[in-house]
Amino acid sequence: QAFFKPIQQTAPPSPTKRHTKVSVVGVGNVGMAIAQTILTQDLVDELALVDVNADKLRGEMLDLQHAAAFLPRTKIHASVDYAITAGSDLCIVTAGARQIAGESRLNLLQRNVSLFSRIVPPLAKYSPDSILLIVSNPVDILTYAAWKLSGFPSNRVIGSGTNLDSSRFRFLIADHLDVNAQDVQAYIVGEHGDSSVALWSSISVGGVPVLSFLEKQQIAYEKETLENIHKAVIDGAYEVISLKGYTSWAIGYSVASLARSILRNQRRIHPVSVLAKGFYGIEGGDVFLSLPAQLGRGGILGVTNVHLTDEEAQRLRDSAKTILEVQNQLGL
Ligand code: NAD
Ligand code: LAC
Repeated sequence: QAFFKPIQQTAPPSPTKRHTKVSVVGVGNVGMAIAQTILTQDLVDELALVDVNADKLRGEMLDLQHAAAFLPRTKIHASVDYAITAGSDLCIVTAGARQIAGESRLNLLQRNVSLFSRIVPPLAKYSPDSILLIVSNPVDILTYAAWKLSGFPSNRVIGSGTNLDSSRFRFLIADHLDVNAQDVQAYIVGEHGDSSVALWSSISVGGVPVLSFLEKQQIAYEKETLENIHKAVIDGAYEVISLKGYTSWAIGYSVASLARSILRNQRRIHPVSVLAKGFYGIEGGDVFLSLPAQLGRGGILGVTNVHLTDEEAQRLRDSAKTILEVQNQLGL
């Protein structure tokens, strides 16, 4: 007995409105921050949660379901069985070990790469047309591992990369200049981590290129001030981890913004981890690192040809080398 008496359908449902499904693997601090941000932003019709910890999984699912009266309608389910992820448009992987205070992201590699061999193949099997969005650290090398393990084309395997570092960068520049961070265009590229590269030459605020503006106005700026802002970006995650044990809210918003650009086909440009070989003189192997890339329903639609100074290009190649040195030890 249906609660509502159905009325005669006069027209079929609009073909433009399609069912959207996202799966999140790993329901720790990061997975749940992403899940709840995605829910509040009305991005999906269905959300599937997967983890190895069945009790935590069920607890998190129930807790989110209990908020249904305050949220856009989304079917939320959870299981240790990957079958619930079937037919996902986007699979977000956040499972695995996280850093303890002072530990580098690269240090997590061995622990997390072995988990990936159990996570990525079932995701690829149940959602062969999906886009994989990797968040677990070290994100660049794990994105490479996910690409290898899934057999997906590289445009459908993306790492959250320096989208988060760039947001930290924009916040710090905005704070320094007392403007709105959304008006600051600024990119951090390269490794999501200690060898990341700040693209000072392309920063603009409200369309005004910052460095050339300062030079034209003969306003002195200290290279050291710029270096300190970049250092604060790198140190930011370490500081949050030493204070609260993990990072969660900013990565939640950062990944939800990527999910929106992909699912809503926004064609927005985000610095994310992509197969970077061949760009900006990066050679030496299949390396994933962040470059400003256009995102849409097909995943990576293209990589922006930003102007880099010789120094920035060299730092980017050095960052690629740092990642490759660690990656080559994997034998994947
Ligand atoms: P957490 O310990 O809170 O959660 C990890 C979750 O993974 C746990 O629920 C655990 O049960 C689950 N898990 C472990 N093995 C699994 C498996 N084989 N299959 C499915 N689930 C499994 O950790 P967290 O704070 O949520 O961090 C998760 C990861 O995200 C870490 O690697 C961390 O470094 C990374 N991270 C990345 C960024 C970024 O910008 N890329 C930002 C923050 C954190
Ligand atoms: C971050 C994690 C730890 O918040 O990679 O940058």
